[in-house]
Amino acid sequence: MATTAGEHFDTVLVVDFGAQYAQVIARRVRECNVYSEIVPHSIPVEEVLARRPVGVILSGGPKSVHEQGAPGIDPRLLHAGVPVLGICYGQQLMAGLLGGEVARTGGSEFGRTGLRATTDSVLLGGQPGAQTVWMSHNDAVVAAPPGFRVVGATDASPVAAFEDPDRSLFGVQYHPEVSHTPRGREVIQAFLAHAGARPEWTAHSVIGTAVERIRARVGDATAVCGLSGGVDSAVAAALVNEAIGDRLTCVFVDHGLLRAGEAEQVEEAFGGHFESKLVTVRAAERFLDALAGVTDPEVKRKRIGSEFIRTFEDAAREHAPGASFLVQGTLYPDVIESGTGGAAVIKSHHNVGGLPETMDFALVEPLRWLFKDEVREIGRQLGLPEAMVWRQPFPGPGLAVRVIGEVTAQRLSLLRAADLVVRDELRRAGLERDIWQAFAVLPAIHSVGVQGDARTYGHPVIVRAVTSEDAMTADFARIDWAVLERIATRVINEVPGVNRVAYDITSKPPGTIEWE
Ligand code: XMP
Repeated sequence: MATTAGEHFDTVLVVDFGAQYAQVIARRVRECNVYSEIVPHSIPVEEVLARRPVGVILSGGPKSVHEQGAPGIDPRLLHAGVPVLGICYGQQLMAGLLGGEVARTGGSEFGRTGLRATTDSVLLGGQPGAQTVWMSHNDAVVAAPPGFRVVGATDASPVAAFEDPDRSLFGVQYHPEVSHTPRGREVIQAFLAHAGARPEWTAHSVIGTAVERIRARVGDATAVCGLSGGVDSAVAAALVNEAIGDRLTCVFVDHGLLRAGEAEQVEEAFGGHFESKLVTVRAAERFLDALAGVTDPEVKRKRIGSEFIRTFEDAAREHAPGASFLVQGTLYPDVIESGTGGAAVIKSHHNVGGLPETMDFALVEPLRWLFKDEVREIGRQLGLPEAMVWRQPFPGPGLAVRVIGEVTAQRLSLLRAADLVVRDELRRAGLERDIWQAFAVLPAIHSVGVQGDARTYGHPVIVRAVTSEDAMTADFARIDWAVLERIATRVINEVPGVNRVAYDITSKPPGTIEWE
């Protein structure tokens, strides 16, 4: 198993009971500048303690503690002297194990709820006595364990918060990690302060530690990195560049499926900043040949994936012979998705173009413990251009999955021009960072129009813009009519052959973000 950043920073372990909340909790802790990592609830207590965490947070979860087979914890965790904060299901587990009472209330408490807080407590000290919190539960703690003081209550939860500062044990029924609990961050901060966690997890110190770790891992060897044009591979490359300089060779495969200006952006990010070599392989023709006549989206993806590997391999062999490491921009959410056991399972779709199972490289993954916002901040501190740091997610197969039907140079060029207008207008409207992804799609149909008193038979363009937290679900963006109107007018005026613009108002589910 790869070593973690926890060796260098005070660490809070978040025990995951199966809710989507564990990731959010870990992020909130890190926003307080304390390193946190998610571990599965099945982790042996010895392993938790061996990590010497400054605190442990038990997350919420979808089960009832009364259900057969509901996940639990080893009670020794609560007697080891390590500060513990239980949230929702986590609080109920603590209550049950320590002699309190958890009732199946038969009802549920869901959504924004009024909390009466004890303002001289450790957990809620300094907060308003009456405040709003976010609830999402059925069972409820109805009697706190002996030794605990009840420090918060709602109408349906008589023990919405409890604490025993002498034993460093705390619990809340509500969710302090979500934005619907406005004072939630202070709860987490109060817990961290009580635990004595040093707030040293900052982009600056993360860079220093990551660079040291890369140097120790790579030693005198050389490495190669596939740049996709995205923020993750760029920041990974920038960190490795800091660590080993010209012993890193970056390979950027321009497959001709990028958006306007993107290839130049990658080169600009490198120019002057990087000691490492950058090899750009202009391979548009090769990819277009591979895509000729192909209309099926899955076939497109497969052809692009294998072409990418071949092109990258050729370039690596030619420009970095003998390289023994491959740098990848794998992020912490990818690691979490592969199982919080940290088993280092790398899913192929997370790698650049599906690299590199058949290649003989050891991996260097400097972003393995980072969330996207942390990666962006590190990129910013390392001096990468804004346009790259704030780049919206972009699929590996690029514009090929936005040109519906056959991908040709002419259709790509039309889409690229329309897409540029969409992004430009959203940027002018100041919406770029509020929107998860915005782009144009070229469908494989024609439409009739009238321009200058003449009938046209041209191409419609579809505008897609979504808001999202993590791309698992998404909402179509509620963009102002005036902005949409400007986009439509400009696309039709500026992109020859386009006579109609449609806005996609499908959320995910049932749609996906991309059209193919
Ligand atoms: P969908 O369309 O499935 O997309 O809602 C979810 C997110 O994933 C991106 N995406 C891809 N990223 N290779 C990638 O690296 C791919 O093949 C791919 N397909 C979709 C998509 O842009 C969105 O952010």
